[in-house]
Amino acid sequence: MINTAERIIIALDLRTKQDVLAILKKIPQAQFVKVGMELFYSTGPDLIVCLKEMGLKVFLDLKVHDIPNTAYGAIQVLSQLGCDILNLHCAGGLEMMQRAREAITGETLLIGVTQLTSTDQQVLNTQLKISGSIEDCVLHYASMAQQAGLHGVVCSPKEVGLLKSKLGTDFITVTPGVRPAGSGTQDQKRIMTPKEAIQAGSDYLVIGRPIVASSDPQEAFAKILVEMEMVS
Ligand code: C5P
Repeated sequence: MINTAERIIIALDLRTKQDVLAILKKIPQAQFVKVGMELFYSTGPDLIVCLKEMGLKVFLDLKVHDIPNTAYGAIQVLSQLGCDILNLHCAGGLEMMQRAREAITGETLLIGVTQLTSTDQQVLNTQLKISGSIEDCVLHYASMAQQAGLHGVVCSPKEVGLLKSKLGTDFITVTPGVRPAGSGTQDQKRIMTPKEAIQAGSDYLVIGRPIVASSDPQEAFAKILVEMEMVS
């Protein structure tokens, strides 16, 4: 059973190693962090090694999306970094996900991004030209991910109940789009509070700006933890 603090994945949407070390110093309870495109593209693989040496779990969120052969190569290289979680876009299709899954070595989990939590119903239908509801699309993508042998998906906490009931509780759900009551939503659309996300059954909550951009990151983390522990 994972402890509650480890279920908070802090999104380090920062640019330098110096900024990362400064913020981590302010959040001594941190156990799991997420490195996204901005940070990885500016610091490179060395930062991943550094975070692992600090004893942290690392989700490398590069959202791979390419032809199957290229996705295979990318995931193979990234897998060798020893990250705890890697991801790709389910929109790349079944064959891409299957090839990428074959590239995974060691204990690394590979999960698929269903629909970004910044995408709402209207954007899905009118811009992405995908008909039907967000929930149907997320379930379809998650089912394909499961068929491809992936360990789970990234989705909004709003879809977790549906996915767990259809695909089983062992299929991991990692959920961004989490906002404590009173926090700004910024560009996120399909959101829930930490309490609601835990009640819905989310395995891991990805939270960035509400912690990292807070005037007191340690307190922001602690408040979220208390809220989660009340329902977990
Ligand atoms: O600051 P905030 O809590 O909105 O950060 C959410 C993080 O989760 C960002 O790093 C974003 O890239 C990531 N993410 C997301 N929606 C997805 C997948 C990843 O918001 N579907």
